Amino acid sequence: MKGALPHRAAQLLREAHRVVVLTGAGISAESGVPTFRDALTGLWARFDAQRLATAEAFHADPDLVWGWYEWRRTTVGRAEPNPGHVAIATIQARIPDTTVITQNVDDLHERSGTPAAIHLHGSLFTPRCVAAAAHPATLPSPDDHAAPPDEGGRIPPPRCASCGALVRPGVVWFGEPLPEAALTAAVEAATACDLLLTVGTSGTVYPAAEIPRIAARSGATVIQVNPEPTPLDRIAAVNLHGTAAQVLPTLVATAWAGTDDT
Ligand code: OAD
Repeated sequence: MKGALPHRAAQLLREAHRVVVLTGAGISAESGVPTFRDALTGLWARFDAQRLATAEAFHADPDLVWGWYEWRRTTVGRAEPNPGHVAIATIQARIPDTTVITQNVDDLHERSGTPAAIHLHGSLFTPRCVAAAAHPATLPSPDDHAAPPDEGGRIPPPRCASCGALVRPGVVWFGEPLPEAALTAAVEAATACDLLLTVGTSGTVYPAAEIPRIAARSGATVIQVNPEPTPLDRIAAVNLHGTAAQVLPTLVATAWAGTDDT
């Protein structure tokens, strides 16, 4: 981590009562899950979002799109939460009024002890019928695949058991609205918090990128963890330039140094 130890950030965290943690792809990078916009390794540097992450793309080539999300689900299934995820679960244990909001479609917050993270962009693990949201859909078991999905591999999506329509990934695609209940809960938490910690997001995709700005406008202090500059630098009272798995455990240890169970 560059710069001084995060003493000011640690003090702000220790003294906070209502906390929001907003995470993006960077929190899962050290678990081996690629981000979207990092040069070379980011998914959108290697794949065409318009061919993979829109309703039109699914309509045009469902096997390509379903196969790509099955590859991503397999990648996430093999990944483990990193010390950054664990530190966020520790913050929630220390400050019970902590809301974790993520743009990520993985389940690494849940697997690190944050059971009720708000998923603004849906989840790889909640597929749904393309024709009727009320029709339940189940994921194929890994055994249903002849071979583990590869990056560009096509896999036909399953059919809805109720109506026979295609099953689509449970993620938010470009041009689609965010799940209403998740967005409402996120805005409410951002409006009411006294501290917002933003971790590993480029802060460029709206409306999620509005969440830290809502918190700042409502009087909360914003702390940012990111190795790179972002548009959120301007509203952050403290910018911790480092990776999530490096910075967050240090932040938590410093905040509660000398107390019994950190
Ligand atoms: P991005 O890929 O846009 O940004 C990832 C951020 O994480 C960048 O600012 C990196 O500098 C930072 N980063 C990289 N490694 C890190 C690490 N180890 N620790 C901390 N930070 C790190 O990802 P998001 O901001 O999450 O939406 O992208 C937002 C949305 O754009 C995604 O949810 C997705 C995408 O299109 C949909 O698919 C709807």
